[in-house]
Amino acid sequence: MPDLFHRPRRLRKTENLRALVRETQLSPADFILPLFACPGEKVRREIPSMPGVHNLSVDEIAKEAAAAVELGVKGVILFGLPESKDETGSGAYHENGIVQQAVRAIRAATPELVIIADTCLCEYTSHGHCGVVRDGEVLNDPSLELLARTAVSQAQAGADVVAPSAMMDGQVGVIRDALDEAGFEQIGIMAYAVKYASGFYGPFREAADSAPAFGDRRGYQMDAANSREAMREAELDYAEGADILLVKPATCYLDIVKTLHEEFDLPIAAYHVSGEYAMIKAAAQNGWIDEERVMMETLTSIKRAGADMILTYYAREAIRRLSRN
Ligand code: PBG
Repeated sequence: MPDLFHRPRRLRKTENLRALVRETQLSPADFILPLFACPGEKVRREIPSMPGVHNLSVDEIAKEAAAAVELGVKGVILFGLPESKDETGSGAYHENGIVQQAVRAIRAATPELVIIADTCLCEYTSHGHCGVVRDGEVLNDPSLELLARTAVSQAQAGADVVAPSAMMDGQVGVIRDALDEAGFEQIGIMAYAVKYASGFYGPFREAADSAPAFGDRRGYQMDAANSREAMREAELDYAEGADILLVKPATCYLDIVKTLHEEFDLPIAAYHVSGEYAMIKAAAQNGWIDEERVMMETLTSIKRAGADMILTYYAREAIRRLSRN
């Protein structure tokens, strides 16, 4: 035996000791719950690949949000399935669009809840792309005006924060200008700064019926192989006036979350996306993993990497688990 034999196990001896030295603590205020608004009344349609997640009509989404607040959820992010889709995604910026209705209903039901509106066109366009399409190409600059209109109409409906996720160049700056011009200088922007072209969005596209009708999103979402480019994307959104920088998906990109947390002085969000949720659910349903344990381990790892907030379909389950501590 050496004279000084190191024994890190000393601090792992009991649960209380482990609690005292624990570096990362999850709290209910870490989570943002995604919700999907759909047309109709009294609709609660479970998404087959996302057990526990539903398409909700406006009346139901208000109830769901109120119940989430009761549990301790501080924020929600809203997506919409419009009545009908068209070439330019007009349902995204219609005064009475599905998300605009949902924002008003949730605001009325639970005034204090932070309401974030996802600002994109893909759920509303007939071709399923996140921008305007001409001759099979997703055009950048013509899409900006529509994204800005979407953000302003979401602010008009009462959203606290808009979250541009289309990955069009310049979208944050154009949206900031449009919001300011419309008198919404207090409305924040959570920028999907680093959004990768990912296979993990599969279940979401089923939930939001937003799979592209042709091609894919690699022409605007980022290549999974790149991290220096992620810095550049984040720098641009920072310069354009983003209030929060978001990385998506989360677990395969924890290195990016960590770098952004170290390099930027804005809050960092990470989106634990549909496929990441679905994989845990599926394995758990097969009895192959302990769902609660894997859920908490996953969310802890995202926070440990440097996320200040986590968008997750597990928000409620995680809060319930925390309340048993
Ligand atoms: C819209 C958008 C997507 C997600 C969030 N906003 C889908 C996509 O880019 O295809 C995915 C969220 C998830 O998978 O949970 N552009």
